[in-house]
Amino acid sequence: MAVLPIRQVPDPVLRQRAKRITSFDGSVQRLIDNMIDTLHSAGGVGLAANQVGVPLRLVVIHLPETEVVCLVNPEIVKRSGEREVVEGCLSIPGYQGELKRSERVVVKGHDRWGREVRLRAEELMAQALEHEIDHLNGILYIDRVEGPDKLTRIKPEAEAEPGM
Ligand code: CO
Repeated sequence: MAVLPIRQVPDPVLRQRAKRITSFDGSVQRLIDNMIDTLHSAGGVGLAANQVGVPLRLVVIHLPETEVVCLVNPEIVKRSGEREVVEGCLSIPGYQGELKRSERVVVKGHDRWGREVRLRAEELMAQALEHEIDHLNGILYIDRVEGPDKLTRIKPEAEAEPGM
């Protein structure tokens, strides 16, 4: 397993629409393991494959005190509620922004072995799913921030939101 370099803005791969995964072969399994290593090494809570330069529809999410969730070809099938969040991205270091995310989402997709999964999530997990699935569509959180005053540089002494 290996830690991969994380692509940062304005790398064009972050603006690419990622392709569906159709084969759950060894190369996909290696990519998943490397993305989990990379996520842990960066101290983040979520990572999309575009962020390591691979435009495939694959995300890994690891929230504190939960197990790693790996989703292939994830799709949001239902969203409800709305809440204000402060969010950061591993591909946009040094900044965080205020934006609105859904309170709850239902996501369908596949696990790392190609089995169909359906996931109900709320709060931080719902936020991470929306953030990572946005990445797969070439969308960054800064696109959803409602004005320049809602995007701020993180002060060195301040505690930052975990990156995704
Ligand atoms: Co991100």
